[in-house]
Amino acid sequence: MLDAPATILFVGDLVGGIGRRTFLALLPGLRDQHHPTFVVVNGENAAGGLGITPRIADELFAAGVDAITLGNHAYHRSEIFGYLDEHDAILRPANYLASQPGHGVCVVERDGTRLGVVNLSGNVFVRAGRHAFAEIDAVLHDLRDRCDHVLVDFHAEATSEKVAMGWHLDGRVTAVVGTHTHVPTADFRVLPGGTAYISDVGMTGPRGGVIGVVKEQAIRSLATHMSVRFETSQEDPWLMGVLIRCSPQPRRADAIEQLLVPWDGAEAG
Ligand SMILES: [Fe+2]
Ligand SMILES: [Fe+2]
Repeated sequence: MLDAPATILFVGDLVGGIGRRTFLALLPGLRDQHHPTFVVVNGENAAGGLGITPRIADELFAAGVDAITLGNHAYHRSEIFGYLDEHDAILRPANYLASQPGHGVCVVERDGTRLGVVNLSGNVFVRAGRHAFAEIDAVLHDLRDRCDHVLVDFHAEATSEKVAMGWHLDGRVTAVVGTHTHVPTADFRVLPGGTAYISDVGMTGPRGGVIGVVKEQAIRSLATHMSVRFETSQEDPWLMGVLIRCSPQPRRADAIEQLLVPWDGAEAG
C-alpha cells in the first residue's frame, strides 16, 4: 500500500499555439485547485495543429509537465525525431514499428510515487505497425516491478476499440484515457476492477472550430470536395482533461473527474 495516493492531471491534445497558451495559462490555477502529483499532456497537435517540435516539448517540460504523449501526428515535424530518441518522457505509441523514432513507455517519479506512462495507438482506422492488445500485455509485463501506478493514453479513433481496451485493462492499470478524436465523451468512470476510464478526453484548443480547424475551412472542404488550406481556429479556447485520483492500492483508481475549462484570456493574451 502507498502512503499518499497520487493524483494525475491528464490533458487532451494541445492544438496549436492557442492550445499551448490555454494550457499554460490555466495550469497554475488547476495546480492550486487540484494539487496534481503528475501532469501528463498529449502534444501530437501542439505545433501549428500537427506534430510537436523540440522547442515546444522543452516549453511543456519547463512548465512542469511530467510526460508528453503523442499519436498519429507524432512524426509530422522531422526535427522532433532525434528528440524522441533522446528524451525519456516524451512518448510515441508503443505499438509503432520498432524502426520508427522514439519509444512508447516511461516511468516518472514524484513524491515517492512511480508512474508508468504508456502511449498506445488503436488499430482501427489509424495506422500502427503492431497490435495494441498484444503490445500492452507485453508492456505491462515489462513494467510489473517498475512502477506503482500506470496511465495508458490510448490514441484511437473507434469508441468500440477504446471501450474494449478499457475492459481489457480493468484491474491491471490505474487509468485508460482515450485521445485523438478531440471530442470529449461523457462516459468517464472507475470500472469495477478499479481502472479509471474515459473513451476520449477531448482537446485543449479552439472549441469554435472543427476539431481544431477554422470552421469555415472545414465546412468548405466538406461542402465542395475541393482542396482547402486548413488553419487552426482561434475561437473559444477550452482546456479539456481529466483528474484521476489514484487508490492507495497500486494500479487502481478511486475516482476520475472530467475537467472542461474555458479560457477567457485569449483576447488579452
Ligand atoms: Fe489529436
Ligand atoms: Fe490523433
